[in-house]
Amino acid sequence: MLKTNFGDRTINMHQRKILFIDHTAVLGGAELSLLDLATAYRQRSQVILFADGVLRSRLESAGVKVKVIEVSEKVLELRASGGLKALKTIPELWSLAGKVAVEAKEFDFIFANSQKAFIVAALATLRNSPPVVWYLHDILTAKHFSAINRRIAVSLANRFAAKVLVNSQATGKAFVAAGGKQDLTSVVYNGFNSEPFDCVTDGEARQLRETLEVADAPLVGLFSRLSYWKGQHILLLAMKELPALHALFVGDVLFGEEEYVSYIKNLASEPELKHRVHWLGFRDDIPTLMKACDAIVHTSTEPEPFGRVIVEGQLAQRPTIASAAGGALELIEDGVSGLLFPPGDAIALSKEIQKVISDRTLVDKLAERGYHSAKANFNLAAILDSFEQGISEI
Ligand code: UDP
Ligand code: GLC
Repeated sequence: MLKTNFGDRTINMHQRKILFIDHTAVLGGAELSLLDLATAYRQRSQVILFADGVLRSRLESAGVKVKVIEVSEKVLELRASGGLKALKTIPELWSLAGKVAVEAKEFDFIFANSQKAFIVAALATLRNSPPVVWYLHDILTAKHFSAINRRIAVSLANRFAAKVLVNSQATGKAFVAAGGKQDLTSVVYNGFNSEPFDCVTDGEARQLRETLEVADAPLVGLFSRLSYWKGQHILLLAMKELPALHALFVGDVLFGEEEYVSYIKNLASEPELKHRVHWLGFRDDIPTLMKACDAIVHTSTEPEPFGRVIVEGQLAQRPTIASAAGGALELIEDGVSGLLFPPGDAIALSKEIQKVISDRTLVDKLAERGYHSAKANFNLAAILDSFEQGISEI
């Protein structure tokens, strides 16, 4: 059994009985991080999902016990700013909180991995559930959350959360700026294993480029769900400045933004772009795809709370160019472990891409320093230690 010391106390690692809950079963970054945590605690823990989907099968394949408590679309689409519609969900939320409180009886605490799951968990504490930990994956700013939504989330956290784990300092700062109590928070970054990246061979990466018919062209990859704030359009605009550049767009629309998808597909169909843009949809072979690229690009137009793809780009030993805001500033030292450009500035992005496709020495330096930074700071085992520390007082 793994053991670690925190002050005077010795804690048996990964032995806490945790009831993890999430409202969604699609594979976003928050859910991939849940997959790692729940897998580490699988022997004595369980996951409750409010919808069925691919996350359930991924958890079960990893040996995690999962229960799906399906809820109505009304609850899944709940917005605190939704007025009467939101009020009408209260009876269902209350009954759901009762079910969660019953399920939670034999666990040490509830771990809410999404804002909706946290609202239900907060209500469950009124029904005698064990304490609640909220893992906050979002930057609570006006751009993403209405004022009422932020007020409700922060008030519930201040009143009912035993702990608010935040996925970056930037996320923690925004929580406090929105009125959240600083002393509730602890930073727990996402953690990664480097093996899936280390074991991709040059031959496999080359083979993939050939399959994609981009054998010798400069190639960048953008790995993200299709969403306005993830900024796929910024890369498309940057590509107009770089006529030889090809790009992989990896990811699917996860949370319903079909209008944006039509907009970017339309932009990409322009004659100067259409042969250079490769839409791959959602993929499971991220390490190989990243290794097939010359550089990894992150284009969020809003501060990224953490940005898993940035660390993954570094682990793939590819120069990683990210939008300079939010958690990205904690992952990249500009010019050392990656490159940064002002959010939303396509011309600046094109210049950074130009730098890496024309300067081998710079590429090697960024790849090496980025890889070491990712391994030193975001190694999964070390992040699990910081998680243990974050929950040690509960
Ligand atoms: N991802 C994936 N397949 C895809 C596109 C993305 O597995 O086709 C993964 C990606 O490797 C990363 C996660 O989805 O681990 C996205 O997390 P990130 O924190 O970058 O952004 P989020 O979508 O959570 O805001
Ligand atoms: C959320 C954030 C993303 C972060 C992920 C995992 O999906 O948008 O930035 O990396 O959670 O914490």
